Amino acid sequence: DLSPADTAKNAAAIAAVRLVEDGMRLGLGTGSTAAFMVRRLAERAAEEGLSLRCAATSQATADLAEAHGLKIETLDEIGWLDLTLDGADEVDPDLNLIKGGGGALLREKIVAKASDRMVVMADGNKVVETLGAFHLPVEVIGFGWQITRELIQRVLDSSELDHRPILLRQRNEAPYRTDEGNLILDLALEEIHDPERLSAALNAIPGVVENGLFLHICDLAIIGRPDGSVAELT
Ligand code: A5P
Repeated sequence: DLSPADTAKNAAAIAAVRLVEDGMRLGLGTGSTAAFMVRRLAERAAEEGLSLRCAATSQATADLAEAHGLKIETLDEIGWLDLTLDGADEVDPDLNLIKGGGGALLREKIVAKASDRMVVMADGNKVVETLGAFHLPVEVIGFGWQITRELIQRVLDSSELDHRPILLRQRNEAPYRTDEGNLILDLALEEIHDPERLSAALNAIPGVVENGLFLHICDLAIIGRPDGSVAELT
């Protein structure tokens, strides 16, 4: 029995997996919604004998996929992908996203950029008018991270985003480390009115590896509802 939130995520995941065709090269996203997708994809692949090539956006997703019988290859073994199915933390009406709540934003962005098509699966709570209520994750190198945080603060101070908190992500009372061994700074911005400018300014800081704004990357968002129905945002 699924909770209403999980019913919505599962419905979006099931609809997204319908887009998969035999022979496709796929990117598999990360997070609880992507986990529903991975399970459904493994079912379909087994039932229909689909021949698929899959790259994962995180070790967690690779482990889950392999536990369900899907073979995972590296992105470089596969090369360009046909389709990536992933979750998101926020989706705006232009299909711009905040991602990285699960810490996988860097691999997620690389995989999404390698794909002809990126489809997001989300429950309706994640659809927002303006991005930014969800803290924006920024992946930074461990070396000199406090300097990097100050440089990020200066970027915020020079925009309308001054005095917004920047939090070092923790797990088990230690700094959280991404699959690439980096740190995550979570930016409490409230509203991001110029995501293009912010993303470019963040990524111009040497210690910043990547940020969680996915702009003009998503082609379709499948929004699940607690009653199990779905709607499409294009
Ligand atoms: C992982 O880094 C994120 O980008 C996820 O895609 C996002 O956090 C969505 O996760 P849920 O599906 O668990 O909400």
